[in-house]
Amino acid sequence: MNTYFRLLKFLPRYKGHFLLAFGCMVGFALSNGAMAYLIGPVMKFLFTSGGGSEINLVPFDLFTVPKEGMMMAIPVAIFVVAAVKGLSSYGQSYFMGYVGQGIVRDLRKMLYDRILNLPLGFFSNTSTGVLTSRLTHDVNLIQTSTSDAVTQILKQSLTIIVLGAVIVSLDWKLSLAAAVALPLSIYPMQKLGKRMKKVSTQGQVTMGALTGLLHEAIAGIRIVKAFCMEGYESTRFQKENEAYTRNQIKTIKVRSLASPLMETLGAFAFAITIWYAAYRIGQGTLKPETFISFFASVIMFYQPIKALNGVNLNIQQGLAAAVRIFELIDRPGEHDTRGAEISGVNESIEWRGVEFKYGAEPVLNGIDLKVRRGEVIAIVGSSGAGKSTFVNLIPRFYDATGGAILIDGRDIRELSLNSLRSKIAIVSQQVILFNDSVKRNIAYGAVELSDNEIIAAAKAANAHDFIMRLPQGYETVIGEGGVRLSGGERQRGSIARAILKNAPILILDEATSSLDTESEAEVQKAITNLMSGRTTFVIAHRLSTVRNADRIIVLSGGAIKEIGNHDELLSTGGEYSRLYSMQFQG
Ligand SMILES: Nc1ncnc2c1ncn2[C@@H]1O[C@H](COP(=O)(O)OP(=O)(O)OP(=O)(O)O)[C@@H](O)[C@H]1O
Ligand SMILES: [Mg+2]
Repeated sequence: MNTYFRLLKFLPRYKGHFLLAFGCMVGFALSNGAMAYLIGPVMKFLFTSGGGSEINLVPFDLFTVPKEGMMMAIPVAIFVVAAVKGLSSYGQSYFMGYVGQGIVRDLRKMLYDRILNLPLGFFSNTSTGVLTSRLTHDVNLIQTSTSDAVTQILKQSLTIIVLGAVIVSLDWKLSLAAAVALPLSIYPMQKLGKRMKKVSTQGQVTMGALTGLLHEAIAGIRIVKAFCMEGYESTRFQKENEAYTRNQIKTIKVRSLASPLMETLGAFAFAITIWYAAYRIGQGTLKPETFISFFASVIMFYQPIKALNGVNLNIQQGLAAAVRIFELIDRPGEHDTRGAEISGVNESIEWRGVEFKYGAEPVLNGIDLKVRRGEVIAIVGSSGAGKSTFVNLIPRFYDATGGAILIDGRDIRELSLNSLRSKIAIVSQQVILFNDSVKRNIAYGAVELSDNEIIAAAKAANAHDFIMRLPQGYETVIGEGGVRLSGGERQRGSIARAILKNAPILILDEATSSLDTESEAEVQKAITNLMSGRTTFVIAHRLSTVRNADRIIVLSGGAIKEIGNHDELLSTGGEYSRLYSMQFQG
């Protein structure tokens, strides 16, 4: 129920359109009632033409048309009522559609903004497939349940009220007989609704798995082919595909049960009504034309009830989707105090007893380090030692689970996240580029820069030459994740991006690992230029790039094992000298 009210809260933004839609629904319901009411007099007119008395076209004998006028009045009345009904039906679905699409657009935006804002840890634990399925499939389900269901509920309820009024005003005793089936239908309707909700939730889970597999297989298609795993992937997909189909068939079973169930109950009520009406007509206490109007109204009355029941199922499906969407929207985003702004590093960056764990085991433990402004710190250690983790704590991709990192004595958690991150340029192990032009990839996050500045940065990163060789130069679109570039080209692109960002803190995580020795030497020059005056953290497997650092820290077992410059560490003959000698022997 709570979820329902949350969805309704989106409505006030569209109250103009909603009120128009509501007006049309009222028009629709009234014209429906008028249509039902007209049927009796029409029949009487048809079968008694020539003889008989005048006929009431309006209830309660308000307005009696003389017999001679009927020839014209009846067709005109039928046409006018039908026109009003058609027009209001159109208006109602247009205006409600507008409201529904609006709400869904707002939800999509909210959801997308939240996803962008979630901490990195969330993405390690949630598959892209699940997120995609939330944003597409679930949002669509809500669309059906907002615009369609709300339309149906209002329109059909209004129709029920109007027709109900017509029925009762025609003959209240007869209406009681027709109503006996109503209470009988409540229990099965509720039961079906609950079942629908359950089946729908299951369906979404499998749909998420299905999109997840699809995404993985497409993203990793080279690996799939290289390992001849097409069969394996196909079987994996087929399993989920089957599960989803079974679920959809369950949905169909529940959905298709609703209509015949209601019809059978309706027929039962009809049987009783007809029996009672025949008795009353025989007694002379019921006029045949009243009964015909009554009969028509009751037939028309069951249609909205049936529709409402179908809507109930839609709503259950939509609510289940809304629960999943709100669950995501309600997740805490990255913790941002929007606190102090910083202009850079004035004095130092300091680690105080920093501990970090992804799961139960700490990856970093008891890290104490003070880095002066402008210092170049190299971080070495074997693979998995925690080097990337160490630098990822600086832009708060992850928050330390113990201790604190301070810039100029201020805990980075007290700084504005935007301000902190805008002072850090990163060239990382995973060079992610976007499916856009080379130019916009290099200028990512700095849209206001001129072409000359972009070209200068590309030249400094030794990227200008290869970019000029691309078919459309700087305007070449490089494919998803930059697939149309070589590994080294991608890396130079992201170095150019870091050069453009011109931030006081620089993080290079294996920034030159994909380059050959020659281009590395070239790029190294650019990087050396870039580093001057900046506080820099360099991670490199090739120790030659590490030699010139002011200080080198050796990470091992989650702690800083050694610290010092190249010559100092070599002379102590510890881990660093071991790694270094291995480099030059192997
Ligand atoms: N998102 C994550 N969730 C859980 N564990 C992680 C995550 N990222 C890294 N780890 C684990 O943390 C440890 C340190 O990883 P990290 O990436 O910091 O190593 P690294 O020193 O950069 O290694 P490499 O030289 O191979 O890049 C590894 O054991 C890794 O399995
Ligand atoms: Mg790493």
